[in-house]
Amino acid sequence: MTHSRIQLLDEKTSRKIAAGEVVEKPAMVVKELVENAIDAGANEIIVDIKKGGKSLIRVTDNGSGIHYDDLPLVFERHATSKIRSIEDLYATQSLGFRGEALASISAVSQVELITMNKDATIGKKVVASGGHIQKVSEIGTVQGTTLHIRDLFFNTPARLKFLKSDQAEARAITELMSYLALSHPEIAFKYAVDDNRIFHTPGKGKISDVIFTVFEPMMLKGLYEINETSEHHTLSGYISRFDYTKGTRNYQLLFVNGRYVKSDLLKEVIQMAYKPYMMHNRYPVCILFLSIAPSDIDVNIHPAKTEIKFKDDGAVKQFIFTALKKAFNLYDQVPTATFTEKQVFRVEETEKAQIEAIQDMPLPKFPEMTSQMASQMATQIASQKPSQMTPPMSQRSNHTPSPYVPPVKPEAIDFSELTQFAQETIQLETLKPLEESIYEGLNYIGVYNQTYLIFEKETSLYLIDQHAAHEKILYESYMTAFSNHTLQSQMLLIPEVVELTTLEMEMFNEAQSTIEKMGFGLEVFGAQSIVIREIPSQMGIGMAKRMALAVLDGSVHVMDDVMAFKLAERACKAAIKAHDVLHDMEVVALLESLKGLNDPYTCPHGRPIIIRFALSEIERKFKRIL
Ligand SMILES: Nc1ncnc2c1ncn2[C@@H]1O[C@H](COP(=O)(O)OP(=O)(O)OP(=O)(O)O)[C@@H](O)[C@H]1O
Ligand SMILES: [Mg+2]
Repeated sequence: MTHSRIQLLDEKTSRKIAAGEVVEKPAMVVKELVENAIDAGANEIIVDIKKGGKSLIRVTDNGSGIHYDDLPLVFERHATSKIRSIEDLYATQSLGFRGEALASISAVSQVELITMNKDATIGKKVVASGGHIQKVSEIGTVQGTTLHIRDLFFNTPARLKFLKSDQAEARAITELMSYLALSHPEIAFKYAVDDNRIFHTPGKGKISDVIFTVFEPMMLKGLYEINETSEHHTLSGYISRFDYTKGTRNYQLLFVNGRYVKSDLLKEVIQMAYKPYMMHNRYPVCILFLSIAPSDIDVNIHPAKTEIKFKDDGAVKQFIFTALKKAFNLYDQVPTATFTEKQVFRVEETEKAQIEAIQDMPLPKFPEMTSQMASQMATQIASQKPSQMTPPMSQRSNHTPSPYVPPVKPEAIDFSELTQFAQETIQLETLKPLEESIYEGLNYIGVYNQTYLIFEKETSLYLIDQHAAHEKILYESYMTAFSNHTLQSQMLLIPEVVELTTLEMEMFNEAQSTIEKMGFGLEVFGAQSIVIREIPSQMGIGMAKRMALAVLDGSVHVMDDVMAFKLAERACKAAIKAHDVLHDMEVVALLESLKGLNDPYTCPHGRPIIIRFALSEIERKFKRIL
């Protein structure tokens, strides 16, 4: 290898290299252009792409336009009208701040910019190639800005080679567009791929409209609203009811202060909160918007990246977790059993989940799918409650409904028609806000197999697993006693001496009263040991020792987990069993206690306590209805 001397790169080369940092792929170009449009105050943004954005990306907005004196600077690096300090980034509405994007994009493409600001009478058109303005001319146009980006990476063949297929690049853009639309429900986004409309959002400020439009319309039927505020955070959005799941986590989205962020934290919290209610390989949809003080976000993370670091992960996790758990109890979510094979054969369910995981990939949603989905939606809704519904779309246009729509160009779907559907869909919502416990108003009918208590309420039949029910009642009462420090203690026959290190001894002096509140009786015994005389009645001496040490270690949360586990075990042992014969009075007492549960659906091990059978399901089985 020859030793090269240091040389300054020529300007063209350095521009191209710099460009690579901002624009690696077409989706990043779209992101920059749309963010500029948002910054310009547009309330309508039209995005068209061709060949996955490789041959054309066109973004049109009705925003402020660019001041003509600024035009010569637009493609210069570090030229920005939005200077902000980095610290302000998550607080301000301004998405751009580097003055980098257009310079980078224009360095690797052919750009045509048309703009007009509100005071001007005629627009300007700027043509640039490889970062240099070729021509400026006048043009008749309306207020706002349009950017045409053609032949992306024409002068950087290496980068061009790294691009994925047109479909894959289009999919990435569609995904991005759906996130942008969700984060700005007040902006109408019109998005098309290769001249086929993918979605038009109405821009009326309603998240539900956007979910309806960018994902499948029926999704809203399985979701409900969540709203929670604490001193430092606000959370809103839509979450799955227990019976609405997907085969992928792709619909678990977090927006922080109005921006989409990739978040493992969110997926973890959702997993924790929903775990007891989800079948294997099934995942809830959660589209959540978190507001948090910008000072609680670590700004050292590169702002262009969608990853985010919270100063206090634990607090955010705890807040979202509690909000979800609270929201779970807002609605009646008793699982309704069906007699369909899907429920009976769980193996098949799992396989199906895997297949769906692939099919479920949210994007791209190409037009033939849109019309197919529209027709599916129409038939589905129609089959549910024909009398209350507006006729399905296919009938409105005097066509016989057909389950299969050949993949042709979509018949134009009128958006107003779709929003109307959205509203109807939401009204059809079977989740009723819960005003009382789900156990209220159940009439006891009898017992089946000396295990399942049978009840009826309105038109539904309910089965309650007597063991799971009692187990949960005991468990919650133990947990309450534990957190109120009123757990009973048991005196040890032979007190246990525990040797401690000097450090532990110091910790002990600080923590003694805390540990005693948990049901321990302890005394100092010499310089380096303590004696345990009493332990919480729920545990053996081995466990008690370990727990006491955990507290000394400062890992109190370990103690909580261990305790929850031990208490569940204890509740299971103490609870009435399957096949125990209950008197009617006992059933009544059990039902009364069930009404007081905080988390009424599952036993501490996650199995359901109560299941509902809908009359329609039973009648269908008896062929009274089809
Ligand atoms: N659609 C638009 N409407 C109005 N002004 C625009 C538009 N696009 C770009 N501009 C103007 O051009 C400038 C340069 O845009 P560019 O995207 O390169 O930089 P930026 O948005 O300031 O910062 P960043 O590099 O972080 O995106 C902006 O500061 C803005 O003044
Ligand atoms: Mg910008």
